[in-house]
Amino acid sequence: MRIDVLTLFPQAFESPLSCSILKRAQEAHIVEIVITDIRDFAADNAQHGLRHYRKVDDKPYGGGPGMVMMPGPVFDCFEHVCKLSPEKGRVFLLTPQGQKFDQRKAVELGGENRLILIAGKYEGFDERIRIGLGAEQISIGDYVLNGGELAAMVIIDVVVRLLPGVLGDDTSAKDDSFSETAGGGLEYPQYTRPEVFRGMKVPEILLSGDHKKIAQWRRQQALERTQKWRPDLLEK
Ligand code: 6GU
Repeated sequence: MRIDVLTLFPQAFESPLSCSILKRAQEAHIVEIVITDIRDFAADNAQHGLRHYRKVDDKPYGGGPGMVMMPGPVFDCFEHVCKLSPEKGRVFLLTPQGQKFDQRKAVELGGENRLILIAGKYEGFDERIRIGLGAEQISIGDYVLNGGELAAMVIIDVVVRLLPGVLGDDTSAKDDSFSETAGGGLEYPQYTRPEVFRGMKVPEILLSGDHKKIAQWRRQQALERTQKWRPDLLEK
């Protein structure tokens, strides 16, 4: 899979992409993640008197607060990444107005060959960016981030985790919370050594070696926790 990110803050991606699972997935060529700076495609604007001033946003027509991402730099940046690799991809604007990203969406996106994520800052994107690029819109939840960068990182993390070969044990994403096998609910409780910690014991059943009983207990626990902590998941 190839993931392109178009952003005004490429340096924000450096550390999340350079450790742990995302690092290994790139090294193993399971995913190629290419970050491109939208500002590199801004026209220099000498009027501002700053030698390297490169404008990417402007005031909204019709008035109102904040600044809007201009279409020119985003289109030019988009066309540049399309030339870098001709592979067709799904294009997403990262915005709180988008469709909600969840585990189901992550599974869907994991089946694509290429994703192109466009992160905006400021009040939003000029509408012609969405229309002209045929972009879908996606949001990671009902709150407003300062920009799409953290949302892009969340989406990359969740999608890449699901790609075959990324996790050491290919089955270890299978039982995750929200997964199909967890019935879209929460995961069962986990324990490791020691057997007794500060007076708290590991449930006897997990030491029994009876795998059928253990599986049954885990299903029951998962259901109870979902009922108690996330009943909204059971209504779906
Ligand atoms: Cl994708 N962008 C911004 N700016 N805020 C968000 C979001 C995205 N998803 C949730 N909040």
